[in-house]
Amino acid sequence: MDISGKNAIVTGAGSGIGLAIATALAEAGANVVMADIQKDAVEQAAHALSGTNKRVMPVRVDVTQEQSVVDALAQCERNFGKLHIACNNAGVPMHGTRMIDVPRDDWEFVIGVNIWGVIHGIRHFVPAMLRHDEEAHIVNTASVAGFQNRRGTDQGPYSMTKYAVLSLSEALEHELQNTKVGVSVLCPGPIATNIARGARNRPDHMGGPQIRATDEATLSERLATTGLDPKKVGERVVDAIRTKTFYAFVSAVPADVIKARHRRIEEALNTLWVTHY
Ligand SMILES: NC(=O)c1ccc[n+]([C@@H]2O[C@H](COP(=O)([O-])OP(=O)(O)OC[C@H]3O[C@@H](n4cnc5c(N)ncnc54)[C@H](O)[C@@H]3O)[C@@H](O)[C@H]2O)c1
Repeated sequence: MDISGKNAIVTGAGSGIGLAIATALAEAGANVVMADIQKDAVEQAAHALSGTNKRVMPVRVDVTQEQSVVDALAQCERNFGKLHIACNNAGVPMHGTRMIDVPRDDWEFVIGVNIWGVIHGIRHFVPAMLRHDEEAHIVNTASVAGFQNRRGTDQGPYSMTKYAVLSLSEALEHELQNTKVGVSVLCPGPIATNIARGARNRPDHMGGPQIRATDEATLSERLATTGLDPKKVGERVVDAIRTKTFYAFVSAVPADVIKARHRRIEEALNTLWVTHY
């Protein structure tokens, strides 16, 4: 799909991967609504980009809240017109604590942002793209954590949300098969962003911003040493939209772990208990 002149919305555009996606889309000629819960950060980022002649607009959104997503879409359509590209990218981490010890409100936080955020985007951005019957594309940010659980990281809740994003995206691809709306699922490995400090953005209705020094230090260090420059992820997304690539992997992928998991599933299918259809 050609990106130039198209209208896009990117959630989580105030930092890291979302900022890089918004930048790459704007560089490819799109008009971009940069949506984020961090009002100041996204306004500053948009200001810096518009200084280089890009057509971008900052919008405060909380993707856990349906009305907030509806309002962001309305602002996009009012300002730019028809929506052609939607990137459901906002996300938060949850790592370093065994699932039996994760408090209920932490589960709700990670599910609220990482799963409900994408569901709200599917329920509102996709109908907006179907309405005008022009070529359009949706990109959901999952992770390599959506294909396997990495031993020793205690990130079961996060990984679960990313499996959910993968499944939602696969089902959406089926549903949109005979339409002009394409689907990609972005699956990054480690990227050098601020995600380790994800609790800084916790919505007030979910307990408000938090600092989790111990969890943050471990993940920060791993991403700072092994993480790819987010700029590459922006380029990956532009390429995935142009070439209509569904599984958009980028950065280091634990391919052997994913293959071993698939082999284990295949072996489990070859028993007398199972019939195939
Ligand atoms: N960094 C990595 O290594 C990595 C790897 C795989 C997948 N991801 C995914 O990439 C996406 C972006 O993360 P990042 O690494 O750029 O982190 P980041 O913390 O740098 O950026 C995330 C952005 O999302 C925003 N956000 C958080 N909650 C929000 C909400 N309720 N409503 C609106 N915006 C909200 C934050 O304010 C922030 O600007 C996430 O979905 C994350 O799970 C990251």
